[in-house]
Amino acid sequence: MTAKIISIISPKGGVGKSTTATNLAADFALKGFSVALVDAEEHGTTIDWNDAGVKNLHVFEGYSRTITQTIEALAKKHDLVIVDTAGNNLTLSTTSENLQTLVNSKAVSVSDLVLIPVEPTPLSIRKTITFDPIINKAVEGKGKAFTFLMSYQRNTVLSAQCLALLKSGQLETPYLGVTIRDATVVPQAEGMMQSVCQYAPRSNVAQDFKKLAKAVLANLSMEG
Ligand SMILES: Nc1ncnc2c1ncn2[C@@H]1O[C@H](COP(=O)(O)OP(=O)(O)OP(=O)(O)O)[C@@H](O)[C@H]1O
Ligand SMILES: [Mg+2]
Repeated sequence: MTAKIISIISPKGGVGKSTTATNLAADFALKGFSVALVDAEEHGTTIDWNDAGVKNLHVFEGYSRTITQTIEALAKKHDLVIVDTAGNNLTLSTTSENLQTLVNSKAVSVSDLVLIPVEPTPLSIRKTITFDPIINKAVEGKGKAFTFLMSYQRNTVLSAQCLALLKSGQLETPYLGVTIRDATVVPQAEGMMQSVCQYAPRSNVAQDFKKLAKAVLANLSMEG
């Protein structure tokens, strides 16, 4: 078995990387895939999902220079490996920042698919996609990096502007065609260590996460 590898990447903190990684990992595991979730943040909480009690979901530490070996070993034993990375922000020391950059870069190199959640402001989208070297590297890997809009506020001018930008083709990274709306059940579900689809299956945002999972599987040519 050789797993498909997905990394969630963004230089910005708090944009929804861990939320995306844990929701996709739990939902794919509940579908019956064997999933390894890798917590590649220095002070990550994704590792706590080992206690979520989801069958087929196992979480591993990945914040290390040897992350490539960790991922490759896990890929031999699972259907999917999902890597939750962290941004580089000012709270990190120079040493931590360098190691996080290395970890992110290695994760991108071995990934089949790179997901880039973006916040709903046009300036932040442009900055994220245009200036981050790791995103640039992911984009160079033909057809493997995609953006999607996180915390989307429906019927606002700002979100409409963001969607127009993502769909315009002006950015080098293609848009996956998925938006995850801003909804309070998202942090609530995290508080219960459940995916949104487990916690609030009838919610609109659960449908958004289902669309994301479907788009990811289609991109990887996997059936779900
Ligand atoms: N669609 C959403 N609606 C409402 N809240 C959300 C949504 N997506 C994420 N959040 C919340 O935003 C917060 C930050 O999300 P998250 O921890 O996933 O970001 P991150 O990119 O992993 O941050 P970091 O870079 O610090 O690791 C969390 O409390 C999460 O519950
Ligand atoms: Mg995170």
